[in-house]
Amino acid sequence: MDRIIITGGKPLRGDVRVSGAKNAALPILASTILGGGDCVLSNVPRVKDVETMGKLLGMLGASVKSEGNRISVGSGLLRSTEAPYELVKTMRASVLVLGPLVARWGEAAVSLPGGCAIGTRPVNLHLAGLAKLGAEVSIEHGYIRARAKRLHGARIYLDQPTVTGTENLMMAACLAEGTTVIENAAREPEIVDLALFLSKRGARIAGAGSDVISVDGVSALHGAEHEVMPDRIEAGTYLVAGAITGGNVCVEGCLPGHLEAIIMKLRESGVEVTESKEHVRLKATRRPRSVDVKTLAYPGFATDMQAQMMALMCVAEGISVITEAVFESRFIHVPELRRMGAEIKVEGSHAIVNGIGKLTGAPVMASDLRASAGLILAGLAADGDTQVSRVYHLDRGYERIEDKLYGLGAVIRRVKGDAGVAGTG
Ligand code: UD1
Repeated sequence: MDRIIITGGKPLRGDVRVSGAKNAALPILASTILGGGDCVLSNVPRVKDVETMGKLLGMLGASVKSEGNRISVGSGLLRSTEAPYELVKTMRASVLVLGPLVARWGEAAVSLPGGCAIGTRPVNLHLAGLAKLGAEVSIEHGYIRARAKRLHGARIYLDQPTVTGTENLMMAACLAEGTTVIENAAREPEIVDLALFLSKRGARIAGAGSDVISVDGVSALHGAEHEVMPDRIEAGTYLVAGAITGGNVCVEGCLPGHLEAIIMKLRESGVEVTESKEHVRLKATRRPRSVDVKTLAYPGFATDMQAQMMALMCVAEGISVITEAVFESRFIHVPELRRMGAEIKVEGSHAIVNGIGKLTGAPVMASDLRASAGLILAGLAADGDTQVSRVYHLDRGYERIEDKLYGLGAVIRRVKGDAGVAGTG
């Protein structure tokens, strides 16, 4: 298993370009099977989750060709409508094929995703929504089974604004007969990107990006080309990397409008942030001040940035209260940060962080994707060496993170398995 070793204490400087958004690429890839024509996607991040989604589409019978950051998918005919346990257990977002499969192919069997490091993460709202659209849904032998001759439009109210739930239902509704209205829909920009792609293919969607999405079903979708939007979480991670090291970094190729909550919090902590159309520059000239953070659905502060922000608060001046209001137990990085000297107390959904001047490098273990990013950032700011193991979590969602941080001046390297050192040095 690969490890990443960081020698902390170096202020990061320079420019870094963000990749395409994993959380947009995954639903867009899943949606390719909604229609027969060829779909050509560019700016697709080369990360493990995208590879897994490609593998899943291939297992279903789609032809998937990838070259660099371009992927083309043709799904004229499928040979299977099953997403097996072996794949779903490595990537929960596999559940995104559920809506497209039942809408176009009349049936789906998708392994029921289990709990994960950040909580139980049910998919009940995906299933209730599909049932409203007329699918017969059951759980059998650990699999979600859904069947429908043709889905029909319906009014769906989501008890919680679930991101992949909204995406699943929006995709399914594209081929349903009549109009579907999804109320209390999630408003994440990745949903807008998916809607944009589907609209290019002939879908009729209005309201994506607001909490009411309406979809007029059509009988078929055709192929289209699409450039995946930039990754706002990756962009936010590099901004915090600049802040935590007292650096001066410019994050390029991002959409600052998607980063408002994080930019506001960074400014509140005392760093200088300037935005232009496609980049954000951050300059940190002093130790950050503590700020309170509460994660919320978009446009609130993203739960996917919580671990990174906590790393920053560990070295800030004063006490910060971080409230996780999206997932039930997303503080799995706390014991690891404590191993680096952080002073954090967890009370229910609150983490109370007493900022200390300096963390100290230590061997730590990554437990989920964003927790890993938080530990890498902590390592950048720590005295001495930090060794982050189980970085396969990181590889699920960050494209070449160690190369990009190295480009900003970080002393960071990847150690492959038990053997040689790879990449940057
Ligand atoms: C997506 C993102 C993930 C991000 C999360 C929240 C992708 C591939 N993943 O995950 O990176 O952390 O949004 O921004 O885009 N819930 C239910 N029932 C459901 C579905 C969700 O109760 O059927 C609850 C969840 O337990 C959670 C909340 O709704 O408390 C939000 O989760 P959700 O938006 O569904 O997260 P994902 O779509 O899985």
